[in-house]
Amino acid sequence: MTASVPLGFDRKTTRPIPGNKTGMAFNTVLFALLAILVAVTYGPVSHYLTVIGAWRHPSRMVFATDSDLVKIKDTIVCEDLHLYNPTNTLFTACEDDIHRRFGWFPPLGNFETPPQTTQEGGSIHVIDPETKISTRLEFENFSGPFVTHGIDVVAADESRPGHSVYIFAVNHLPNPDFLQNRQNTAIPKARSQIELFYHVLGSNSVRHVRSIWHPLIKTPNDIYAESPTSFYVTNDHFYRDGLFREVEDLLPLAKWSTTIHVQITHETARAQSNDPIPDVKAEVALRGIFNNNGLGHGQTHDECLVTSAAGGLLYLGQTSNGQISVREVITLDSAVDNPSYFSDPFVSDGNNNASGYIIPGLARGIDLPFHKKDPSARDGALVWHVKSSSGTTSNSSMSSGTGWEKRLLFEDDGTIIRTASGAVLVPIDPEREGGRKKGWLFVTGFLSENAIAVKVDL
Ligand SMILES: *[C@@H]1O[C@H](CO)[C@@H](O)[C@H](O)[C@H]1NC(C)=O
Ligand SMILES: *[C@@H]1O[C@H](CO)[C@@H](O)[C@H](O)[C@H]1NC(C)=O
Ligand SMILES: *[C@@H]1O[C@H](CO)[C@@H](O)[C@H](O)[C@H]1NC(C)=O
Repeated sequence: MTASVPLGFDRKTTRPIPGNKTGMAFNTVLFALLAILVAVTYGPVSHYLTVIGAWRHPSRMVFATDSDLVKIKDTIVCEDLHLYNPTNTLFTACEDDIHRRFGWFPPLGNFETPPQTTQEGGSIHVIDPETKISTRLEFENFSGPFVTHGIDVVAADESRPGHSVYIFAVNHLPNPDFLQNRQNTAIPKARSQIELFYHVLGSNSVRHVRSIWHPLIKTPNDIYAESPTSFYVTNDHFYRDGLFREVEDLLPLAKWSTTIHVQITHETARAQSNDPIPDVKAEVALRGIFNNNGLGHGQTHDECLVTSAAGGLLYLGQTSNGQISVREVITLDSAVDNPSYFSDPFVSDGNNNASGYIIPGLARGIDLPFHKKDPSARDGALVWHVKSSSGTTSNSSMSSGTGWEKRLLFEDDGTIIRTASGAVLVPIDPEREGGRKKGWLFVTGFLSENAIAVKVDL
């Protein structure tokens, strides 16, 4: 199946408009024109300006004691974060080098220094939520490059969830044709794919099983695995680069992004093949969303959380037969990223039930186009906690009035973490906190030199 071709675009070639060398000044004019266009055509303009943080002055959260903040060692530029519940293990994929991200990261349009050797690239890490120690897993049968982004983790065998897992991970490889012919702007610069790894829980390695590639996977961002052979992946943009890419970044009406459902017939089927397409089946599972980006597992086994990053929206969806149907949309006041669900195990008398969605985001997404190539810039981070307001007895002034209570769990101006793209809440037994309800919030950032854990009140 082919993805839809947006209006006003060449249906025959479906080629991106080539990039422009005099881009900077031109982009500024384009930005201004589009801002006007947005203002006159898009109804909820003020919400849009709120989402991109036009008026936000990022603030820094104050911690009661120093021990409430842990900067996790060796977590350099980790975009995604997942808690594997059966063994209470956090998984993340990290770039392991702060400078690489600013030279090559297709999702941000950073194409200057593509990885040239297999040594360049990151790794999969496990983090122990108790000790907050991050461990790099050694690769077996894999030589990079590995340009890390979204991941997901799924039990290898459902009857033995504590034994082993499969890890799906986006890898933003350069297009070999682009490396051969860098002057030809018509050649897409990236040819991203998904890597599948196998990991025995508690061991210190991951074995590469195979790579997965399909023409429908163009700008992969995040992954939702439903089994070892079936997963969903978001294409955060329709265009990899060029002018229309910028239109997509700015215009909420550009609802061209898709989520793709991918099935592989068997994990080992073509493990050693250089041509991994034949046994990969893919179809569009969700379309019509502006900049769909993060994916996460929800409250039930088939609830699929999808975010519109630049739209500041959380979609509650349901997977069924390779399709995602959206049940509800929750509006948030910032750009948002990879969502997760927190199930509160310490609910007494139905009171103070903190179960809900945990959504990381950017304090000022509006700065990103100007900061994305700058290792020394600062970008603030936010993490939202969204819970159902029905059935709760707390009296929050932050209720949205639409059945959802939204509050900021964490906020930083870029001092302790730069951007927030992954966030997972790990509960703390109230008995260890003198009866108070608290949790450790783990946050990763796609431009951050470290991930953090902060103790938050729930
Ligand atoms: C690694 O790949 C080789 C073939 O390329 C294979 O013989 C070997 O069994 C693989 N090792 C593991 C641990 O999968
Ligand atoms: C807490 O709230 C969640 C979501 O509203 C609900 O599914 C769960 O059953 C509640 N837990 C208890 C113990 O009431
Ligand atoms: C909730 O807060 C409002 C305003 O702060 C107050 O008037 C009201 O009594 C509170 N309700 C409860 C149930 O505490």
